[in-house]
Amino acid sequence: MENPSLTGNGCPVTGLGADFNPFEDPYLADPYPFLARVRADEPVFYSPELDYWVLTRHDDISAVFRDLESYSADIAQSPVKPLYPSVVQAIKDGGFTPTPIMSNCDQPKHTRIRRHTARAFTSRRIAVLEPYIRELVDKYIDAFEGRGHAELVGEMVYELPALVILKMLGIPDEDVAAIKSWSSNRLMLTWGRLSEIDQLEQVQGLIDYWHYCVRHIDRKLEHPGDDFPSDLIAVRDGNDEILTIEEIVNVVYGLLIAGHETTTSSSANAVRSLLEDGMAWTELSENPDLIVNAVEEMLRINTSVISWRRRTKVPVTIRGVDIPKDAKLLLMLASANHDPDVFPEPDKIDLHRNNSKDHISFGLGIHFCFGAPLARLELRIILEHLTRRLPRMKLVDGQTFRFHPNTSFRGPIELQVEWPQP
Ligand code: HEM
Repeated sequence: MENPSLTGNGCPVTGLGADFNPFEDPYLADPYPFLARVRADEPVFYSPELDYWVLTRHDDISAVFRDLESYSADIAQSPVKPLYPSVVQAIKDGGFTPTPIMSNCDQPKHTRIRRHTARAFTSRRIAVLEPYIRELVDKYIDAFEGRGHAELVGEMVYELPALVILKMLGIPDEDVAAIKSWSSNRLMLTWGRLSEIDQLEQVQGLIDYWHYCVRHIDRKLEHPGDDFPSDLIAVRDGNDEILTIEEIVNVVYGLLIAGHETTTSSSANAVRSLLEDGMAWTELSENPDLIVNAVEEMLRINTSVISWRRRTKVPVTIRGVDIPKDAKLLLMLASANHDPDVFPEPDKIDLHRNNSKDHISFGLGIHFCFGAPLARLELRIILEHLTRRLPRMKLVDGQTFRFHPNTSFRGPIELQVEWPQP
């Protein structure tokens, strides 16, 4: 790539962009003040730390998502920081062979895979999960309700969305700990900034995760059940032009991370934001009809996917900044969701906001989050049950929130809450 300081109108390397370090505090603890500054003063900038061009405004990011001629999604799952050669070798030796199928796949292959995958991800497949989600949420609350306090991530939302996606995929509950741990390996290898030793430590999890998915589909081919992979195999109907077995393995591998890390963090973020507001939790407890919009407002104000990626297929000019072909773009969804041009008083929770749904936490266009209906359902049920059963819940004072250092996925590692006992 050309030296970015020599391209474009003005010098994008100087100024606020040079301060961008998504792996450390203060950004990690709270990215919003930094994002507000760059959105106002330098809305498109080059980050030398990442070698990415960073976009922060709602309209610019929306335009990128919609423009399939100028932008490719093919880097969406590539490591943000290159892997060390020893790690690349370990991956090769381990037989880890995923192929692009959805989030990092362009048309026309994406269209075929998404269309046929959607035939198995039916509203029935989601609806049958609702009683199970309600039962699970109640079970977790039963376990800590009488105690007057809980660490809500570890004791509830860490495993909950994973158990839901495992049920959908026909995977036994007892594998949840392994899946969560492998997902975290994958997340940190792809979106983190690890040392060589740390990358080598995480990589075995990634390989195990892949082979687990391969074996799972092998089992489903022999013994189909009432689950999503078996439905995919039925949709395929033995025809590689619809979906290959390898593509089905990749779909399952993809859903096994997309389907829970995001919702774990979104629900923790939602509870935290509502409780920090002071009034919002009480308002929801007293008026549960507001919960559907509250889910959108929470996705807007404190999204768990704070950034997503694209690559330029041609040279482009965005807001006067020239960006070369094959440049990597980091689209700051969290910033777009706080853009005052779209959301008046963007940092304030407004459960009655009439355009909360215009957030772009699920992306936009052909790659719009495939699991959004399930994520919305889970968030709604979690908020319904928690506000009904624990209306006087509050955050434990004085806690410090910690986050995994990575560019894209954000949610507190722990969330301490308490409520008065009767
Ligand atoms: C609150 C939770 C979630 C958030 C914030 C979220 C966010 C996102 C985002 C930002 C994208 C990229 C969109 C784009 O490139 O335009 C995406 C894609 C995707 N998500 Fe989600 N997601 C969530 C939950 C889920 C769940 C529960 C599932 C699975 C059941 C899922 C499956 C997917 C898949 C398969 C894609 C790729 C779609 C495609 O490329 O066509 N997500 N999601």
